[in-house]
Amino acid sequence: MKRIGIFGGTFDPVHNSHVALARAAIKELDLDELFVVPTFAPPHKDGAAASEENRFNMLSVAFSGEEKIKISNYELKRGGVSYTYLTVEHFKSVYGGEIYFLVGADMLSDFKTWKYPERVLSACTLAAVKREGFSAGEENALHADFIKRYGKDFISLSFTGEGVSSTKIRVYSFLGLSLKNLVPEKVAEYITQNNVYPGNEITEYLKKELPEKRLIHTACVASTAVGKAKELGLKRSKVLTAALLHDCAKYLNPADFKGFKLPEGVPAPVVHQYLGAYVAENVLNVKDEEVLGAIRFHTSGKPNMTTLEKLIFVADMVEEGRNYEGVDKLRDLFKKDFNECFKECLKEETLHLMRRGGSIYSLTLDAYDYYINENDKTTQGEKE
Ligand SMILES: [Fe+2]
Ligand SMILES: [Fe+2]
Repeated sequence: MKRIGIFGGTFDPVHNSHVALARAAIKELDLDELFVVPTFAPPHKDGAAASEENRFNMLSVAFSGEEKIKISNYELKRGGVSYTYLTVEHFKSVYGGEIYFLVGADMLSDFKTWKYPERVLSACTLAAVKREGFSAGEENALHADFIKRYGKDFISLSFTGEGVSSTKIRVYSFLGLSLKNLVPEKVAEYITQNNVYPGNEITEYLKKELPEKRLIHTACVASTAVGKAKELGLKRSKVLTAALLHDCAKYLNPADFKGFKLPEGVPAPVVHQYLGAYVAENVLNVKDEEVLGAIRFHTSGKPNMTTLEKLIFVADMVEEGRNYEGVDKLRDLFKKDFNECFKECLKEETLHLMRRGGSIYSLTLDAYDYYINENDKTTQGEKE
């Protein structure tokens, strides 16, 4: 009997980790064919940034020459919500054989909320791919739950790919950064040639004002922050704008902006947060107060911060390019407990300033008092 795999996703864009997973799945599941199926409108995610045509073409380019891999436009053509039960039943009826549906292990936690989970399982076997931050204990509990609930287990693939993020690749593209080592070379060429992820006034400004090193940091802050937006109930577009602009004034001179007034007592390294908010509002016409606040306090912090302000503050400290003692612990906490992570970041920031000597900006000390010294009365309410 033929063994057929289905690999669905937004593929916005397809990247190296997808390619590695496709190859690994063919090997590990001994597949005769693997269909890569870009989704029309993923029910568990926001819509895609690239057009359907571009997403499909990027997949074709990425997998050209791979004999066992076919790109299917089934879900794109069908339109509507890309329900898994419809897709697996379609492939089962057209190709017969054993169907294996690849899925991120973390997605299986809410499998019972999928449309017709029993129909999914009667048409295919689920093959779960490990995701970063998803523990073996959680996965074992899921196996037990599947057997109890459906009388049919899923397969856990041993493949663990590097965590490449499509968000990061899109932001890299927006900022004109190299996609080397993130996507196959041909996909990078396709993205550039077809301007798949065009920038805007903001990214053009950043490309003009920031050196490459700072652009990379900016991209990493953006993908870290955007990756957390949904969980924190924030709008991705707001998070993206705030993250992109947080360091926009890092290399600007306040004297060049006539209307800009710096509050009193601001140490030199903190000036760029105020100037950044000013530039965002007056040069780039960003009027959203929440976004401006997140730029304005991303270095100092302050008492009573909004979730967006906290998120930019934290993402700035834990993005993958950061390399200081204790950063791994903070990154771990970022995945598990955002509010705890925020408090630890604030502590780390204050301790760092103390170790460095000299005076600490009063607003940072106020934030420290508010969140750390007075502690739980501030965060308990937010957790509920
Ligand atoms: Fe900054
Ligand atoms: Fe920064």
